[in-house]
Amino acid sequence: MFKNLLVVVFASVLTLVSAQTISGQYDCMLAGAYTLCQNLWGESAGVGSQNSTLMSTDGNAITWQTNWTWANNNNNVKSYANVLHNTAKGMQLGSITSAPTAWNWTYVTESEGIRADVSYDIWFGVAQSGTAATSASSYEIMIWLSGLGGIQPVGHQIDSGLNIAGHTWNLWNGPNANWQVFSFVISSGEVRNFSADLNEFFQYLIENQGVASTQYLQAIQTGTEPFVGSADLFVESFAVTVNV
Ligand SMILES: *[C@@H]1O[C@H](CO)[C@@H](O)[C@H](O)[C@H]1NC(C)=O
Ligand SMILES: *[C@@H]1O[C@H](CO)[C@@H](O)[C@H](O)[C@H]1NC(C)=O
Ligand SMILES: *[C@@H]1O[C@H](CO)[C@@H](O)[C@H](O)[C@H]1NC(C)=O
Ligand SMILES: *[C@@H]1O[C@H](CO)[C@@H](O)[C@H](O)[C@H]1NC(C)=O
Repeated sequence: MFKNLLVVVFASVLTLVSAQTISGQYDCMLAGAYTLCQNLWGESAGVGSQNSTLMSTDGNAITWQTNWTWANNNNNVKSYANVLHNTAKGMQLGSITSAPTAWNWTYVTESEGIRADVSYDIWFGVAQSGTAATSASSYEIMIWLSGLGGIQPVGHQIDSGLNIAGHTWNLWNGPNANWQVFSFVISSGEVRNFSADLNEFFQYLIENQGVASTQYLQAIQTGTEPFVGSADLFVESFAVTVNV
């Protein structure tokens, strides 16, 4: 009884201590197995702000939230508030046996007509390690669980009706800077309770899109790209693991 009470008290202290907000353009903070970042890379195209809050971590899982409000340039992404797994990276695609992930989230508030995606952003490269969106990047793999307001990924739609990991996707492809982008866009509606093996996407790309199995997984990020509107996105739980 007493022991249990101690455990409960300790757990709530941990939660309180770890609840922190970041507001600056490139602010990041360590968050358990992850790094939470604001990444307001496109803010100069708009007027607005964004704040991201780490609520708690529990082993490999994280709970966080971001608030954003943006106006101007409807077709420009303003930011990518995201969490990056600190250690689920550095393995060759051909050596991955599974990459289980679970992500549930909701819009607590959402203005009318928001334009935003909720997405994975996964990076492959020739070298074992490399920062996302740099000269080290060969491929950017996006998985859009939501894309509201008629927004479109980089490039052109090259396929549709792909059944991968229990859902149906449209596939987009095109170049960005020095890397190729493949975006799997949920074919209809949104998936707010996603549970899948990311290796099914990786295997599809190797078997069907010419991605070399010698490429290294350099980063797995998940978050949201707002274009315009305002919203409060709550990630109740996110986790990913990569097994070799
Ligand atoms: C975001 O907005 C919600 C209300 O929708 C509020 O409870 C929360 O404190 C806000 N968080 C930040 C970081 O502004
Ligand atoms: C973010 O935080 C700043 C400073 O506290 C505040 O002025 C701004 O309104 C917040 N933005 C959102 C979208 O909550
Ligand atoms: C979310 O998905 C998990 C795993 O598939 C499932 O166990 C759970 O019941 C789902 N939750 C809701 C609210 O549908
Ligand atoms: C979200 O996922 C977490 C972790 O799997 C689970 O405990 C929680 O019940 C889920 N919430 C909903 C609404 O499905």
